[in-house]
Amino acid sequence: MRLSGKTCVVTGAARGIGRAIAEAFHREGARVVATDKDGAAVSQTAIAIGCEALPLDVSREADWDALAVAVPTLDVLVNNAGVTGFEDGIVAHDPEHASLADWRVVHAVNLDGTFLGCRYAIRAMKTRGTGSIVNISSRSGLVGIPGASAYASSKAAIRNHTKTVALYCAQQGWAIRCNSIHPAAILTPMWEPMLGTGPDRQARMDALVADTPLRRFGRPEEVAALAVMLASDEAAYVTGAELTIDGGLLAGSAASPG
Ligand SMILES: NC(=O)c1ccc[n+]([C@@H]2O[C@H](COP(=O)([O-])OP(=O)(O)OC[C@H]3O[C@@H](n4cnc5c(N)ncnc54)[C@H](O)[C@@H]3O)[C@@H](O)[C@H]2O)c1
Repeated sequence: MRLSGKTCVVTGAARGIGRAIAEAFHREGARVVATDKDGAAVSQTAIAIGCEALPLDVSREADWDALAVAVPTLDVLVNNAGVTGFEDGIVAHDPEHASLADWRVVHAVNLDGTFLGCRYAIRAMKTRGTGSIVNISSRSGLVGIPGASAYASSKAAIRNHTKTVALYCAQQGWAIRCNSIHPAAILTPMWEPMLGTGPDRQARMDALVADTPLRRFGRPEEVAALAVMLASDEAAYVTGAELTIDGGLLAGSAASPG
């Protein structure tokens, strides 16, 4: 019960990593408010977990204002909701061919959503002066990704904003911590448009983790375990940090000598 007595909001919690974090927080004794743009799906998820649910599109300021009324004081926020831009199929996201509209959609969810989330959390935590904000960035926020420029840019900005929030809160004298998690290749529905259902699905999966030292996809529960640690008081001295969870990928270059 490492999160007993804490009120925690998780965004993008209907499925994937967000769902696994909501489940883990609930198991650790927290009051969990699972939120998602897909209100019906997050309600179903919340029933399965036994937690609360609220619809929240992270890119809409009005939705955060409504959350601030529903959940005015907070201990933990996980800014997990994110999009690649490939949800409706593969489109050009390289720096030469990406459209401005597609670029903006990805930033509106990933970056604006994280900014609005951090702002809400600071306001909802500062009266007690303690709390933990966990921002889900990505391996793609640490290296360039030629075919997913908007995603990589937005995730890099999340990494930097995390450190700004951490320093700002420390400056104010609050024990409000802010850290980023950088996963790579976690098997969730996010990958489905890229994996497809054809006979070459397994070959695509193998190719995607061929350069990962642990040679497999990660599991959402493995990311959730890190989020529990950062949310808990065990991490009271951890702020402005970035934790990779990538099967060792970023420990060396893909071409590391044997
Ligand atoms: N899966 C990976 O390999 C991986 C790697 C690095 C980073 N991440 C990051 O982890 C987070 C979760 O990814 P996932 O793999 O579970 O994705 P997913 O696509 O399986 O789930 C994302 C969830 O976010 C919700 N969502 C989308 N847009 C939203 C919005 N505007 N407002 C609120 N909710 C919204 C979706 O409805 C969905 O429930 C994302 O930020 C993603 O970028 C994932």
